[in-house]
Amino acid sequence: AANDKYVLEIPKVELHVHLEGILTAKLRWKLTQRNGTKLRIAKNGRELKSLEELEAAMDLLRPDSSRVNNDEERFQFFEAYYEGFECLKTKEDFFDLAMYYLERAAKMNVRYCELFFDPQGHTNCGTPWTVMMDGFREAQQKAEKELNVKSAWIMCFLRDLSPESAMEHYKAALPYRDMIVGIGLDSNEEDRPPALFDEVFSLARRDGFKLTMHCDADSKNTHEHIRQAASVVAGHGLDRIDHGINAAENRDLINLILKRDLGMTICPWSYLRHTTYSELGPKIRALYDAGIKISINSDDPAYMEDCWILENLLLSKHLCGFDNKDIAVLARNAANICWADPAVKENIL
Ligand code: HPA
Ligand code: ZN
Repeated sequence: AANDKYVLEIPKVELHVHLEGILTAKLRWKLTQRNGTKLRIAKNGRELKSLEELEAAMDLLRPDSSRVNNDEERFQFFEAYYEGFECLKTKEDFFDLAMYYLERAAKMNVRYCELFFDPQGHTNCGTPWTVMMDGFREAQQKAEKELNVKSAWIMCFLRDLSPESAMEHYKAALPYRDMIVGIGLDSNEEDRPPALFDEVFSLARRDGFKLTMHCDADSKNTHEHIRQAASVVAGHGLDRIDHGINAAENRDLINLILKRDLGMTICPWSYLRHTTYSELGPKIRALYDAGIKISINSDDPAYMEDCWILENLLLSKHLCGFDNKDIAVLARNAANICWADPAVKENIL
């Protein structure tokens, strides 16, 4: 327990959390009631009528390494995740969602965070950009002033939608570029290699944005996708990689990541969806021991038994045998690879 106190109290930087992935059953229920929207958790299923039903449905989606490699479960996660977007209607909803994260973050001593959001999921529900971004901005300003938590946004494109849709959304986001530090790519990776989105990522780099992409642990072409993200997209590859843990299986990829000095955002709890404990620890450990700047993060806490950055750090301690010195290195890595202004960056931790 003394060690847990160290992990709780150490100042933190979080670089991989999906705002829509913190929509817990309770919050989703509250917003559904407030807006009178329908509550669904599987598109062809029946409407849910209570918080208890919602909690039970979401409980079935949590990572569970006894059900590894279950494509059906992965599909259901995405379905439930995007259906969650339907209860977010007003500026206040987006404010509440972001504040929910930022308040939890303050309690765990997170000092700075870069938050993913998926604008295509919201425009798809008919939500205007001003509603999302104004709500986010108010939360960002309040958290900085009252909670001592600084934040910035990473706009992710949905890789299962077209590159044209990504480009349209990129252009529509430019009026809000002062809030957005980076561009990412997420959603279902099946048959959607990084290079498909080369044009919009190249443009974003020319415009001064930092670049990252998900390379999910269960992607079928995992090594090729990591290679493209690390060395091909936008001329010479991205600025960070999200997940990418299968690089641990391939010395060339490790060398490439080291040569480009790419940071990686690792979310241990997520991988229990498709990896066993005994496989996971050595993979994370191999990246760390190779000297790659990995950071530990939370991904989608609402879909993971309420596991946040703190629980992910504790899990990585357990899985990899990290001690407090290692935990300090991981926190320092996150501060090193974050995209805050240099002046801010120096004083984050
Ligand atoms: N993988 C890919 N995209 C995502 C995820 C994930 O786990 N969560 C939210 N978007
Ligand atoms: Zn993610």
